[in-house]
Amino acid sequence: MTELKSFASDNNSGAHPAIMEAVVQSNVGHLKSYGEDEMSIHTDEVFKEFFGSQARIHYVTTGTAANVLGIRAVTHTYNSVICAAQAHINNDECGAPEAFGGIKLVPVPSEDGKLTPGMIAPYLGHIGFVHASQPKVISITQPTELGKLYTLKEIEDIVDFAHDRDLLVHLDGARIANACAALDCTFFDMTTALNVDFVSFGGTKNGCLMSEAVVFLNPEIGVGFPYLRKQAMQLVSKMRFVSAQLEAYLKDDLWLDNARHANAMAQRLAEKAGAIEGVEIKGTVDCNALFAYLPPEATEILLEKYYFYVWDEHDHTVRWMTSWATTEEMVDEFVAGIKKAVEAV
Ligand SMILES: Cc1ncc(COP(=O)(O)O)c(C=O)c1O
Repeated sequence: MTELKSFASDNNSGAHPAIMEAVVQSNVGHLKSYGEDEMSIHTDEVFKEFFGSQARIHYVTTGTAANVLGIRAVTHTYNSVICAAQAHINNDECGAPEAFGGIKLVPVPSEDGKLTPGMIAPYLGHIGFVHASQPKVISITQPTELGKLYTLKEIEDIVDFAHDRDLLVHLDGARIANACAALDCTFFDMTTALNVDFVSFGGTKNGCLMSEAVVFLNPEIGVGFPYLRKQAMQLVSKMRFVSAQLEAYLKDDLWLDNARHANAMAQRLAEKAGAIEGVEIKGTVDCNALFAYLPPEATEILLEKYYFYVWDEHDHTVRWMTSWATTEEMVDEFVAGIKKAVEAV
């Protein structure tokens, strides 16, 4: 098996050894299935320590499932969901929200994947008009698909705006750990304390094997979720192996250490690559994703040895992403490769 030298995605890294160990440890004889095992029940309690006692937690295996099922559970087919045009639900879920959930998405143009009340307001003109889909959810991604962070105040402003209009707020937290690490706050600070209604909680990108969760914080929503999850074939029979990952992930600050490390590696890469003449780091590096201009010929050379995405072939922007498993040596070797490629063209 050839190991990739990857700066393409945190999805390219393996699972953290502590997570693998937790899966092995949970492999003990016969336990109840479908989430009724002690491991899953205990993991629910651990989640409540992070999100508050009213949280209801449902495990799934992909972030797409978390997003689609979470949103589906709180909407009717006549509702719409407002999101940034760059949102994963809009661009990267192969139409699953529409196909599986019957969800109409209303994508709002955005520079960096962030939304503000002012950007959302023009899309709410048809509330109460029977001919138009009725907005129900504002979905934000933290950090955004372009690696940018909402401040807690910005999230709060969106929540207040939404609740004033009887709308719910969904937070796609596929990388919520990276966001909390960067803003030096807890999951509670970023969600429950701001009255976010429900969260897609990601574990996979930051060290789990394949564990995500839908966390409902608003006690009045998502009541039918367990049935929807079963219908959607996401009710895992041997749930202990999914919950064991998340229990280990939340234990002893593993989530935080991993996220801090990934973020620090992105900073290191930005500082060192940005110092190379001919390379331009675009905008701020808030978490573990960075975007850079590279001469296209240099990109071609680099791609022979390294794996990363050409984000925009017209303006020659590339995306680099680091993970819990990116080492300083990997970054430094990559930077040396970038320098060599840029100097060769
Ligand atoms: C913002 C965001 N949401 C959700 C997901 C979850 O995707 P998946 O279904 O591949 O786990 C991703 C994965 O890239 C993502 O970047």
